[in-house]
Amino acid sequence: MVTYIDASSAPLKNTGVIRLYDAEAFAGMRKACQLTARCLDALYPLVKPGVATDAIDRFVFEFGMDHGALPATLNYRGYTKSSCTSINHVVCHGIPNDKPLREGDVVNIDVTFILDGWHGDSSRMYPVGEIKRAAERLLEVTHECLMRGIAAVRPGARTGAIGEAIQAHAEAERCSVVRDFCGHGVGRLFHDAPNILHYGRANEGPEMREGMIFTIEPMINLGRPHVKVLSDGWTAVTRDRSLSAQYEHTVGVTADGCEIFTLSPGGLDRPGLSA
Ligand code: MF3
Ligand code: CO
Ligand code: CO
Repeated sequence: MVTYIDASSAPLKNTGVIRLYDAEAFAGMRKACQLTARCLDALYPLVKPGVATDAIDRFVFEFGMDHGALPATLNYRGYTKSSCTSINHVVCHGIPNDKPLREGDVVNIDVTFILDGWHGDSSRMYPVGEIKRAAERLLEVTHECLMRGIAAVRPGARTGAIGEAIQAHAEAERCSVVRDFCGHGVGRLFHDAPNILHYGRANEGPEMREGMIFTIEPMINLGRPHVKVLSDGWTAVTRDRSLSAQYEHTVGVTADGCEIFTLSPGGLDRPGLSA
């Protein structure tokens, strides 16, 4: 059974209940998400050969501090960085380190700022210098998967419609959808109900209602969908070491569709790809 509750009257932990947010909450989320989007715009010039992901992570931390926001990943379940940086066959949760980026890499940078208690969660793929055509194609397919998933969001439809749209496009392009990670409700909590699967069927999952807020963040592989987590306890990689990509937006369900809170103010939703 699925239950829905007015977000302002629910305890602040993930009990599986789906929160419905009011206009004031939407305004708070808009601000937090736009700060995250501005940061993802502002760090773009840093993403080039020779720069270490640690330097990008420091930029994210400083950007947050300068704008009164805390990175949500900092000290989250033992994670100690302000961002996740996932390079090439790393699917997600890559830990920033001192290794320089190399020409031809593709890196996902995932940032979540907490501003006035609201979580803005978004990630994009960034090409490092010139990349191979196969990599560019994976980035295009993955961004299109995200946007097709978002296009399926409306009150009355089930969350499975999002997964079905994403899976159909990925597989039509001979790519695969990672099953081990999903999108999530977000708001006052970082990871909340419901889970948003990036595969499945339109008649599955809870019904979407106006006021729901969640992320959509498909991870798409050039090879097989299977992943494993490295011994650091975080870094998820493709088992076949094939290339993986991910884009993430935070959205709010409106009367007739949804609002994308994390759209880039600078038109950099797909940095390095042609518009
Ligand atoms: N931002 C990621 C997400 O999209 C979660 C990162 S949690 C961390 O949900 F601990 F790995 F940073
Ligand atoms: Co997320
Ligand atoms: Co994220």
